[in-house]
Amino acid sequence: MDTRLNKSQEAASSDSDRSRTANDVTAGTPATEAIKRRVVETTTAKYLNREPDIKIHVKNVNFYYGVKQALYDVTLPIAELQVTALIGPSGCGKTTFLRTLNRMNDLIPGTRIEGEAMMDGRNIYDPAVDVVSLRERIGMIFQRPNPFRKSIFDNVAYGLHVQKKRRHVIQETVERSLKEAALWDEVKDRLKAPALGLSGGQQQRLCIARAVAVRPEVILMDEPCSALDPIATQKIEELITELSKDYTIVIVTHNMQQAARVSHYTGFFLNGRLIEYAPTTELFEHPTKKETEGYISGRFG
Ligand SMILES: Nc1ncnc2c1ncn2[C@@H]1O[C@H](COP(=O)(O)OP(=O)(O)O)[C@@H](O)[C@H]1O
Ligand SMILES: [Mg+2]
Repeated sequence: MDTRLNKSQEAASSDSDRSRTANDVTAGTPATEAIKRRVVETTTAKYLNREPDIKIHVKNVNFYYGVKQALYDVTLPIAELQVTALIGPSGCGKTTFLRTLNRMNDLIPGTRIEGEAMMDGRNIYDPAVDVVSLRERIGMIFQRPNPFRKSIFDNVAYGLHVQKKRRHVIQETVERSLKEAALWDEVKDRLKAPALGLSGGQQQRLCIARAVAVRPEVILMDEPCSALDPIATQKIEELITELSKDYTIVIVTHNMQQAARVSHYTGFFLNGRLIEYAPTTELFEHPTKKETEGYISGRFG
């Protein structure tokens, strides 16, 4: 049985999805309703009556490491071509949640998930979804840059070889991806040099080039600047803003200033629960929950 996501079927279903709006988030919990109202209100004002498309509808997710529950009833929309930041104190479940979106937790034995994450009419958690093609559509950038022990060129070309792309396509795509990741000018004269010879910031941009090479729709970033110096961090932040024109981005950050600078929407997690989700300026300026206010004003975490 061919369980790979069928691209043309998806294109068709995503076309019909275009006419869908945040209003179509299945009515349900009060949280869903609140999220729906907020997304509609602010984005309507911002984008001339055009409501945002929702790329992924996450609904009522519970996640368990064995008997230990790490996520409780998480519901939130991931808005398309926007940056969604996830903040909260260490251990609150940010990484766990991020990894549910491209099934990275499947690699950990004994984990279990309930609920759904709908993307283009299909549940990401459906066991029939092919995780390899899912991870092409939803790429990931980790806390520490993790280039392969290969050349700069071969790192970016890696996924393209897996996709059996032709040589000239690979050449062109490597160049395009390095440009998209704002790294081309720094490496164009040494594409055959080992990737591990690059600085930390360059390595992280290389990992971004490797991710965008396979044309994902969504990019997940787990504290992508936590191992970088301030200048490298600033470059990555500028890059995130640039990439959000073409990709839906979800970024975990422990740095609230970073969330405020780069994101359009922010979700605040505490003890495995999504406490509050709102447009970023609203969440930081007018939090509605006392826990959110406590966290952003530095009272805990
Ligand atoms: N592989 C694992 N096995 C068991 N528990 C885990 C595992 N990874 C994370 N946890 C637990 O799940 C909770 C959430 O962790 P995590 O998602 O890493 O939080 P955050 O990214 O917000 O710091 C924590 O209590 C953590 O100890
Ligand atoms: Mg984490």
